[in-house]
Order: sequence, then structure tokens, then C-alpha cells
Amino acid sequence: MKEHKIAVIAGDGIGPEVLAEGVKVLNRISELDRTFRFQFTNFPWGCEYYLKYGRMMADDGIEQLKAFDAIFLGAVGYPGVPDHISLWDLLLVIRKSFDQYVNLRPVKLLKGAPCPLKDVKQEDIDMLFIRENSEGEYAGSGSWLFKGKPNEVVIQDGVFSRVGCERIIRYAFEVARAQKKTLSSISKGNALNYSMVFWDQIFKEISEEYPDVETHSYLVDAASMFMVKDPKRFQIVVTSNLFGDILTDLGAAISGGMGLAAGANLNPERKYPSMFEPIHGSAPDIAGQGTANPLAAIWSASQMLEFFGHKEWADRLIAIIEEILSEKRVLTPDLGGTATTQQVGNEVVRKLSRS
Ligand code: NAD
Ligand code: IPM
Ligand code: MN
Repeated sequence: MKEHKIAVIAGDGIGPEVLAEGVKVLNRISELDRTFRFQFTNFPWGCEYYLKYGRMMADDGIEQLKAFDAIFLGAVGYPGVPDHISLWDLLLVIRKSFDQYVNLRPVKLLKGAPCPLKDVKQEDIDMLFIRENSEGEYAGSGSWLFKGKPNEVVIQDGVFSRVGCERIIRYAFEVARAQKKTLSSISKGNALNYSMVFWDQIFKEISEEYPDVETHSYLVDAASMFMVKDPKRFQIVVTSNLFGDILTDLGAAISGGMGLAAGANLNPERKYPSMFEPIHGSAPDIAGQGTANPLAAIWSASQMLEFFGHKEWADRLIAIIEEILSEKRVLTPDLGGTATTQQVGNEVVRKLSRS
């Protein structure tokens, strides 16, 4: 029997609440399938750990994680620990150390999911964001000069390497070609006269290798407007780290909310573990109430199944999420229901067991 070794970093706030349901669902799938199983190892890292030990993860945390086939992460960050510390010392250091340069974020309106946009059909919102996840505006490069003095200056560099841009753009072209979809690049070359001009140039260069793929280029301000006014024009989308972060929260808003937004941080070469996580944060405003929506985490679990080659189970999970959304019987408050996080997880398990 094949065994997938998964490091579980439940993290902070609603992270542990939603991840427990994701793990429950994955365990049930492996019981039903019987050709593979999961071995989960829990790591207690996060803000509570930081308050106890003064660090977000064990000193050799990255070394420890290397041994796993994948990481399943809930959310990181909580009031009491500065966000730039909690995120840089846990989530971002994992993405970077494991060269998870592809961040796959579906922005897809599932059947039965609520949509705040007028005159939009379900099939009109069906995008896949491919976010650059290793450099760009998140390179972590800069300086803080003359701290506390009147002439204080901070510099935050955007770092766009040729290798970094080429590999993410090429990855996006491969996906667009395989899925026979259009590819839109979102950038900002009119104002960011080095980084985004370079990005646009590389997008154009690589597009010449893929004459079969229809391409579009948008400025990020117009793209955000079109995502709301005419979302069907986007299919596969490739964009930079920061733009991808912002646009996928907008994407969540038009496709059912943060409780339904999934993401995968991939190291496509599989040299290092990839990481699967809902795109939402620790939601301190609802943490501890047992009402967080676990469907985003469960959708991320579906992405993990697909990554491991269990495409049928991945699709089955999405179909079950759609059933739950359409029936509207067992939904958490963000989707207008009164169910708890656990009840939604149990409902997914019940529907799996029936199939
Ligand atoms: P957030 O995503 O945690 O919450 C934004 C809003 O969405 C809140 O009103 C919250 O209640 C709601 N929400 C989010 N997930 C939900 C779910 N599953 N079910 C129902 N409602 C949900 O964003 P924030 O409030 O800006 O950030 C809170 C903390 O999380 C910060 O410390 C931030 O840095 C961190 N953060 C972490 C990650 C991550 O670990 N991947 C992502 C984003 C933010
Ligand atoms: C996300 C989050 C992270 C990001 C933060 C918490 C660093 O917002 O995964 O979308 O910006 O990548
Ligand atoms: Mn984000």
C-alpha cells in the first residue's frame, strides 16, 4: 500500500479547526480506497509556540519537513505576534526554502455557491490563478535606514529574475496548452518601469514558443475591474506574487467567499515537499467558535490528492462540495447556514461513505 507522509501544520486561529476536517476527509478517502494511506505528523508550530519558545518553528524545522511528501497547513498569524514575524518565520520561509514557486489558486464558482455579481452564470467564473510564489514583491529584500530619525527611509525591493519569471510563465503556458484555455498575464508595466516591463517582455518571448495558446495582457488595475464586471474573459491567469495575493482574495469574494478559496504551493520538480493550504488567514474574528468554513481546506486537500495522482478522488471531493452547496442544508454561517465546522466535515465524510 502506498503511503503519503504528510506534515500537518495547523497553525493559528481557525487553522486547527478547518484542518481537522481536511485530515478527517483524507483519512476517510484512504479507508475507502485501500491502495494508499496517509501518515500524518502534527507540528505544533505557530504563534502560541512563538510565545512559549520565541520562535515560530523548531530551529531545524525546515530540515524536519524535508522528509515529508507534502505539507498541509491551516493558517498562520495571530494578534500578539507581529504579522511580519509570524509569516516570514513560518509560512514564507517554507514556500521559499522548498522553492514552491507555483501557487495554484482556482477562482471557480462551484455549483450552488453564492455569487455577489449581477447577471453572472456559474460557468462564467472559472479561472485558475498561477501566482509567482518565490520572489517579486515578496523577495524580502530591502533596508531600513536612519530608524527613528527624521530622515528615516525604508526600501522594499521587488526582485524579478529571468529564471524566476520564465519558469512561472512557462508553467502557465503548459497548463493553458494542456487545458486548451486562454492565458492572461496581469502586470503593471506602465508604472513599474523595470520589473513589470521585464515581466511583459518575458511573457511575450515565451508566448512565441506557444503559438497555439491565445494570450491576453492586462494591467492589474483594469484586470481587477474586469474580474468584477466581466469575469468570463479570464481562464488561466499568470501574475506576480503580490498581485496574485490581492487578486485571489478578490477572486474569493466573487466565488463564494474566503471559506471556499483553496491553494496549492507547488515545487513542480518534486525535489521538495509541496504545501497545500486554504488561502484565508487565521480569522481571529471567528476563531474558537467552531463556525469556520472548512470547505476551503477540504478543497486544498482535493488539490493534494490530485498532486499525488488520485485525480478521481480529487474530482469526487469537488463534486461533494458542490452537492453540499446546492443542497444548502449543512453550511457554515459565512454561507448563510447554521452548521458548525465539524458538521460540514462530517457531511463530506457521510457523502464519501455513500459513494
Ligand atoms: P482572514 O482571511 O483571516 O479573514 C478575513 C475575513 O474572512 C474575516 O472576516 C474572516 O472571518 C473571514 N474568513 C476567513 N476564512 C474563513 C473561513 N474559513 N470561514 C468563514 N470565514 C472566514 O484575513 P485577515 O483577517 O486579514 O488576517 C488574519 C490573520 O491571518 C493575520 O495575522 C494575517 O497575517 C494572517 N493570514 C494568514 C494567511 C495564511 O496563513 N495563509 C493568509 C492570510 C492572512
Ligand atoms: C496568502 C497570504 C500570505 C501571502 C501572507 C499571510 C503572507 O495572504 O497566502 O494569500 O500574502 O502570500
Ligand atoms: Mn492572501
